[in-house]
Amino acid sequence: MKPALVLISLFICVNLVAEEHPQIAESRKITADFQKALGKKLKQTLQEGGALQAIAVCSEQAPGIAAELSTKSGAEVGRISEKARNGSNAAGPAEREVLAQFAQALKDEKPVLEYFTVENLDKAYSAVYMKGIVAQPLCLSCHGETVAPEISKAIKKRYPADKATGYKQGDLRGAFVVKWPKGL
Ligand code: HEC
Repeated sequence: MKPALVLISLFICVNLVAEEHPQIAESRKITADFQKALGKKLKQTLQEGGALQAIAVCSEQAPGIAAELSTKSGAEVGRISEKARNGSNAAGPAEREVLAQFAQALKDEKPVLEYFTVENLDKAYSAVYMKGIVAQPLCLSCHGETVAPEISKAIKKRYPADKATGYKQGDLRGAFVVKWPKGL
């Protein structure tokens, strides 16, 4: 599909079903809760213990919060990126397409960083929601263009195949994904 067509279907998906599809509202709530819970822990640890300690927050708390939200909702909740630190967060081909649209929307200063579809899905799922994640200043100590040597060393130790650096404030860092299994 041409990029312009993808963008159109993206707008149509979000706009037309927004009113009647309850999983959009639920997905929005899940991603907002995820962002809030993780952001709070991250800020607190960065202030109290610094970036070196906060690596553990991202390593352990992020998957932990995702697992908790998944159990609560029945959906599969996670974070993805096209340049993932943790290989299990690597975006698949369809997700990459959406991430490319988000990145383009950010460049065009029309940030519609939301996507919802009930079509062309893996047969296990009935709906998928994605919400873009933008790099903020507080992210850059671990994802920025220059990462302090001791932080870099600690990250590389846990994630030898890390790809998640080189970001600037305002760049698309990745997305939250909420996948709804069939029958929910
Ligand atoms: C203290 C270091 C640190 C800071 C600060 C940090 N991250 Fe991360 N980030 C990590 C680590 C470590 C992982 C791998 C987590 C895992 O194993 O799931 C990660 C993973 C991610 C992922 C999942 C995709 C991937 O690359 O595996 C996203 C998205 C992400 N971070 C976004 C952010 C955003 C946005 C901020 C700022 C609000 C931020 N991070 C701040 C260390 C950090």
